[in-house]
Amino acid sequence: MLQGKKIVLGITGSIAAYKSCLIIRQLIKKGAEVQVVITPAGKEFITPITLSALTSKPVISEFFAQRDGTWHSHVDLGLWADAMLIAPATASTIGKMAHGVADNMLITTYLSMKAPVFIAPAMDLDMYAHPSTQQNLKTLQSYGNHVIEPGTGFLASKLEGKGRMEEPENIVACLEQFFSQQESLRGKKVLITAGPTYEKIDPVRFIGNYSSGKMGFALANECANRGAQVELVCGPVSSSMQTNHPSIHRINVESAQEMFEACKELFSSMDSAILCAAVADFAPEKVAEQKIKRTGDEMVIRLKPNPDIAASLGQMKKQGQTLVGFALETNDEESNAQAKLKKKNFDFIVLNSLKDEGAGFRTDTNKITIITADNKKDYPLKSKEEVAKDIIDELERL
Ligand code: PMT
Repeated sequence: MLQGKKIVLGITGSIAAYKSCLIIRQLIKKGAEVQVVITPAGKEFITPITLSALTSKPVISEFFAQRDGTWHSHVDLGLWADAMLIAPATASTIGKMAHGVADNMLITTYLSMKAPVFIAPAMDLDMYAHPSTQQNLKTLQSYGNHVIEPGTGFLASKLEGKGRMEEPENIVACLEQFFSQQESLRGKKVLITAGPTYEKIDPVRFIGNYSSGKMGFALANECANRGAQVELVCGPVSSSMQTNHPSIHRINVESAQEMFEACKELFSSMDSAILCAAVADFAPEKVAEQKIKRTGDEMVIRLKPNPDIAASLGQMKKQGQTLVGFALETNDEESNAQAKLKKKNFDFIVLNSLKDEGAGFRTDTNKITIITADNKKDYPLKSKEEVAKDIIDELERL
């Protein structure tokens, strides 16, 4: 599970720092790549030479790499890593992390981290039991970080015997468990549609919509992170929308008809399809070959219906395949979504409403309700990445 994983190991000023060597040895033995970031206090407990010998990489400690002005990029580290582990994590570092006090390279790296973060606290029981430490740990958990404690692997309610850092093999086991859960879609193939479609009027104009592709890309990344092979059929989105995951194969299309053809061809070999694209229901009956000139008169464009991709896949669906749809509504949300669930033969539908602030098109957040034939669950406003997790959890439950 750790083969090829890139781990940033943060080491802080605790007597348990020597145990980081054992963590590094085990991570490397299991095929992970380790980059150490150490605080100034950490260096008082263990030397960078030992750590760089074990990791075969220079240890990062200062903002500036050398006196020549080159510097270490905490942002690049945040993008490089598959996980960040801070072991040992002192009360001081935990406090700074909880409050964003970015006064060393480790905390700036933490604040830029895009990957999941694991924290193995190490301190005496009094410091650990202090309400401020407990509050800081809870704060860090509420930010989605994982706290690893002796015996539990998670933040426990009882304090006896706590404070001491969890043993290296158990810390590594926590990471392994995390990655194995993440690989829950290994061997599965998922088709995802994302973005808008453009329906040509003439060589310079089209009928489109506001979809940015953010929701669909978040779903594609989540599936790929869980080990699935993803076919992402993507309408015209901004060039800033990039997919770097090696398990995502992107097929760019422009119109609903092109999206339909790509999906129809792929669907039979898929385990699931999630139709997140905002597909135009109509397209101009005729596409003008030349730019349509202004005449001063009224202009009428006759529209013809586009194929309903979801309904077609719903008809093609075989036993064992799962079809997930979206419903973007402005009124009568639930009854409209229920009708689409049935009409398009979805296994469940994800309702989002333009009435909810921060939901729907272009935003980085979304607020959804997941509706199945006999159930419905409302979720609070979350980042589209978090929303994607909820949707894929539901897909896995089926
Ligand atoms: O891309 P973002 O900016 O992040 O915005 C995300 C989103 C708002 C686009 C997304 O969350 C969303 O709601 N996508 C579905 C939008 C939509 O077209 O909904 P609908 O209710 O019109 O369609 C119902 C379902 O049928 C959808 O799964 C849609 O993909 C599918 N459909 C619709 C029409 C059509 N011709 N073919 C289809 O497959």
